[in-house]
Amino acid sequence: MTHARQHSPQVVAHRGASEDAPEHTLAAYRKAIEDGADALECDVRLTADGHLVCVHDRRVNRTSNGRGAVSALELAELAALDFGSWKNRDEEPDWEHRPEDREATSVLTLEHLLELIADSGRRVELAVETKHPTRWAGQVEERLLHLLKRFGLDSPAAAEESPVRVMSFSARSLHRVHAASPMLPTVYLMQFVSPRLRDGRLPAGVRIAGPSIRIVRSHPAYVERLKRAGHQVHVWTVNEPEDVDLCVELGVDAIITNRPRAVLRQLGR
Ligand code: G3P
Ligand code: CA
Repeated sequence: MTHARQHSPQVVAHRGASEDAPEHTLAAYRKAIEDGADALECDVRLTADGHLVCVHDRRVNRTSNGRGAVSALELAELAALDFGSWKNRDEEPDWEHRPEDREATSVLTLEHLLELIADSGRRVELAVETKHPTRWAGQVEERLLHLLKRFGLDSPAAAEESPVRVMSFSARSLHRVHAASPMLPTVYLMQFVSPRLRDGRLPAGVRIAGPSIRIVRSHPAYVERLKRAGHQVHVWTVNEPEDVDLCVELGVDAIITNRPRAVLRQLGR
């Protein structure tokens, strides 16, 4: 179903265009930008020597040819790994793997991703998710804000205009970000709705709700409640056409998807 643009949610590329290219690599983010995604989603973790890298899992085992926890490896060790070959080439991915372009499937630092966005020549927003921030007692948020500051992105004049937002399942992590940078929008991710938030409230300082598509499917009225309470709603991870339709119907503000090109097409963009 193709929608007229009566309501066009923002399309956010989850881990880059991760259906077509290996997640969290430069290849996946370049593809998402080419596809026309409005924003990029990425998970960040701290390496043993304090760099923020874009990796989802605690360990590198699934998405690289190496083994071990990101937090136990230094950036140079991660840079020696291949984060692309795990993706099944028989699926004829919609990206060209050029072995000479090692950078495309190396570990990606958040700094490099910010440079890619800055060089893209158009507005591309960034939704950064802090992974397991509680283990690091504020270091993830501190490094993140420090890096954003270097790019002039930590203190937007108005939250509505910020090209960057910080997401987390941890209210404590979002609280740290909000305390240090009150205008930087934060997104509270939810896998289930805790009883104290059922009325549409969010943790203090949080502007945006990030429910899973499973919550939205089973409790569509919850989206209305959140919107009535004045919150934006960003839903993850929306890959099925009928879920895109549901999100549009409910007026969600952002669709986070592994298939940005397909979703943009469905939205008539
Ligand atoms: O965008 C939010 C979503 O990415 C949260 O789940 O496990 O994919 O990081 P996960
Ligand atoms: Ca994520």
